[in-house]
Amino acid sequence: MTVPARLRLGVNIDHVATIRNARGGDHPDPVRAAQIVARVGGDGITAHLREDRRHIRDDDLKRIQEATDLPLNLEMAATPEMLEIALRHQPHAVCIVPERREERTTEGGLDAAGQHNHLAPFVARLSDAGIRVSLFIAPVERQLEAALRLKAPVVEFHTGEYAHADAGARPAELRRLADMAALATKNGIEPHAGHGLTYTNVQPVAAIPHLAELNIGHYLVGEAVFVGLDSAVRQMRELMDEVR
Ligand code: PXP
Repeated sequence: MTVPARLRLGVNIDHVATIRNARGGDHPDPVRAAQIVARVGGDGITAHLREDRRHIRDDDLKRIQEATDLPLNLEMAATPEMLEIALRHQPHAVCIVPERREERTTEGGLDAAGQHNHLAPFVARLSDAGIRVSLFIAPVERQLEAALRLKAPVVEFHTGEYAHADAGARPAELRRLADMAALATKNGIEPHAGHGLTYTNVQPVAAIPHLAELNIGHYLVGEAVFVGLDSAVRQMRELMDEVR
């Protein structure tokens, strides 16, 4: 089993766009955020193009790709519209996420097991186009097995249950993430993780040896209000490095 030496940090810049959109103008620009992430050593930019375009918009994708050399990880629902956009923009990676219009954020993992027939053509079309496909799933064996059947090279484990667990339940959530990350690696799938990670809860997740990448957004953009995005990303990076 190979264990990745360095844990990558993908920064989700959606909420820079949320603030921009609140006033309908072009400030703050998520492209500038992407450039700062690149400058301070972030490993990738993650952006979720939602059906309702509540944060990232179509033209942001091209502008982000033009403005930085960092790999773009496009989060999207498995819909024909999003597939067409992904094939047109050719991001480094696509993370397929579940999406419900009324949710505040991506509240749970994708039901890869229950939606095999729906997801299979999306995984195949994106993979055929040379895009690295990731499935955002709960850290449970049934979903991981489904990802394997779908031939997804990457899974991203939803860390929401870990992040929201009370102190008593947290060790079990962490064990579940560690066990599933090891099982993914054993089966040739690269495990990533993300959702709800903060300065205070990131280290136990970052210490899971098989994880290759964390994707973190809302907390970093919130911290950026107080200390600047460069400092916030650097601080997160330091915390991750302390446990690897
Ligand atoms: N990874 C995925 C697949 C997500 O959908 C999200 C939330 O958009 C994140 C990571 C980042 O979560 P957060 O904004 O809570 O850090």
